Amino acid sequence: MTHIDRYAVYGNPIKHSKSPQIHAAFAEQTGQELTYRSRLVEVGRFAETAKSFFENGGKGLNITVPFKLDAFDFSDQLSNRARRAGAVNTLAIQNDGAVYGDNTDGIGLVRDINNNLGWEISGKNILILGAGGAVRGVLEPLLRKNPATLVIANRTLEKAELLAKDFSDLGELTVCSFESLGASPFNLVINATSSSLTGELPPLPSNLLTDDACVYDMMYGAEPTPFMRWGAENTAWAVADGLGMLVEQAAESFCMWRGVRPKTKPVIDLLRNMLG
Ligand code: ATR
Repeated sequence: MTHIDRYAVYGNPIKHSKSPQIHAAFAEQTGQELTYRSRLVEVGRFAETAKSFFENGGKGLNITVPFKLDAFDFSDQLSNRARRAGAVNTLAIQNDGAVYGDNTDGIGLVRDINNNLGWEISGKNILILGAGGAVRGVLEPLLRKNPATLVIANRTLEKAELLAKDFSDLGELTVCSFESLGASPFNLVINATSSSLTGELPPLPSNLLTDDACVYDMMYGAEPTPFMRWGAENTAWAVADGLGMLVEQAAESFCMWRGVRPKTKPVIDLLRNMLG
């Protein structure tokens, strides 16, 4: 009997996940034989569903909203970056049966910004909007690139302050409210709030960007997000959505599972065409 390695993505909702197409494209490109499915998991039943997946020979899982904390708790071993992020988006079964948890979101963001878009992080003044799980997941890889400054602005200031405290050993983090932005401009502004989901935009001053500023929304869609439109209206030098980050975090997971790194550019192009 032929045996094909099985992978899946767990989330709720999951219908719109692009991960099956991304991993199918990676597998074809690298000549790897595997299956990758999406699965809607009931809230509160993550651990038992994941346990049964691995007990039945499953090799690896991607985890999306709202299960990244459940996946963190489920992991027998954690990568340093997952421990820092307090969340897991990739699980892999080890030879001894232990489940290893990693977080590839942050490295996905940094790779997209540095390699695909060709934007600098090192030495730049960077502003992150938001202080939720999405920000916690990307702070370590961003700080390791040694930006000149990294400022976190959030609606609820206490959440930004907590993050700054948790990551203070990796570099200097400044926090502020949206209202106090505008005193100095930034070279790179990253939107990691969930405001795009509801078509909203945090209140941003018009003097937030340097002449060479890049604007990145971790969300993506067929149309530019409200934050991307704000960037274009405020004459950002370059504007991008988070589709490349999605593909890069998947590539990092694929590489961990299969030991080969797929090329991401053709897959980003494929997805862009699918979005229409
Ligand atoms: P995620 O895992 O996507 O980060 P989260 O942990 O719920 O989700 O965090 C959502 C982030 O988006 C928070 O920083 C939230 O601000 P608060 O901490 O003040 O709640 C931010 N956010 C959501 N909607 C927003 C809006 N309309 N304007 C500004 N910030 C918003």
